[in-house]
Amino acid sequence: MATMTVSAAIVGPTSYTGLYLIQILLRHPQAAIAYLASQRDEPVNIAAEFPQLMGRCDMTCRPIDPAAMAKEADVAFCCVPHAVAMQYVPALLQAGMRVIDLSADYRLLDADLYEKVYQHKHTDPGNLEEAAYGLPELFADDIPEAALVANPGCYPTAAALGITPLLQKQLVKTSGIVISAASGVTGAGRRPAAHLHFPEVNEGFCAYNVGVHRHQPEIEQTLSAVAEQPVQVLFVPHLLPVDRGILESIYMDPATEAVTEEQLFEAFEQAYADEPFIRVRNDLPNVKHVRDTNFCDLTVRLVGGKVVVFSAIDNMIKGASGQAVQNMNLMFGLDQTTGLL
Ligand SMILES: NC(=O)c1ccc[n+]([C@@H]2O[C@H](COP(=O)([O-])OP(=O)(O)OC[C@H]3O[C@@H](n4cnc5c(N)ncnc54)[C@H](OP(=O)(O)O)[C@@H]3O)[C@@H](O)[C@H]2O)c1
Repeated sequence: MATMTVSAAIVGPTSYTGLYLIQILLRHPQAAIAYLASQRDEPVNIAAEFPQLMGRCDMTCRPIDPAAMAKEADVAFCCVPHAVAMQYVPALLQAGMRVIDLSADYRLLDADLYEKVYQHKHTDPGNLEEAAYGLPELFADDIPEAALVANPGCYPTAAALGITPLLQKQLVKTSGIVISAASGVTGAGRRPAAHLHFPEVNEGFCAYNVGVHRHQPEIEQTLSAVAEQPVQVLFVPHLLPVDRGILESIYMDPATEAVTEEQLFEAFEQAYADEPFIRVRNDLPNVKHVRDTNFCDLTVRLVGGKVVVFSAIDNMIKGASGQAVQNMNLMFGLDQTTGLL
């Protein structure tokens, strides 16, 4: 029996998310990279841009031309900044491709909130209404039929997976949730910036954007949906001087004094019993143990009257390109783990 091959195009392949997407697709048994689409005027050989691809992917980027791309590809991944993605997504859909957008442009349901948070007018509210939020462990039913999937943010992925089962089982209060999170430097993308240079970051560790990070509304949107009531969080991100990985320590109040640690574990184990990418662990997660994998490692403790969840992912994989391929698999009727284990 012939097996299906999904042909993929990547808009913005010279990005970090593009690099990891290419690497995953190269080992995917039922996907092929058909078209790399770059904004650059000079044709870019992708292996010259990323030498780790030498001998593995000898493709030259071509112009971002949705009609030409649609002749060769079933799906387009958008690996470009927010506000840029929505310049291309309508034409990619119109040309007949399905789209997985890694930017934030289609994640927030409310265009007014998007404009407030991202300081940009939303130019494609029609497709915003149609987009599925691509967090398969929580919203799997929405993904297979979607023409457009908004791939979640990295911090929101680790937070939503770490909090949802406890909210759904009403084991924690919906108020007073504090998320202390740390991300490796690739989370900021490949474009150079002074505060991201090696001497600035190496051996440093600091918080940033406390209470005003753009991922906070996305986290609140997901938690409010699963709790079926408004949930607000305090989100405190930190810049971790490693290249990849996110660890979140999430502090919550138990719903009552009767809540036990055993019940908290049970909630995770039941919720994720059939989820291949969630590992509920007894020991404390470490970014090193999820590196280059699509896993989210989770554990929970009840200490000093607080519930504390620890959630670890690779920001480039479960936080971006791996999750995007998980979504592609679901959209094209493949097992969600294909190419990812
Ligand atoms: N890094 C992460 O951990 C992460 C996680 C989840 C989601 N995301 C999101 O995924 C998207 C890509 O992130 P990234 O970190 O991979 O980005 P990045 O490394 O900074 O690369 C950005 C890419 O967008 C291209 N680009 C910039 N402006 C463009 C324009 N006007 N038209 C066409 N292409 C343009 C760049 O091309 P040139 O190389 O030619 O400049 C480059 O390929 C962003 O929206 C980001 O928020 C990132």
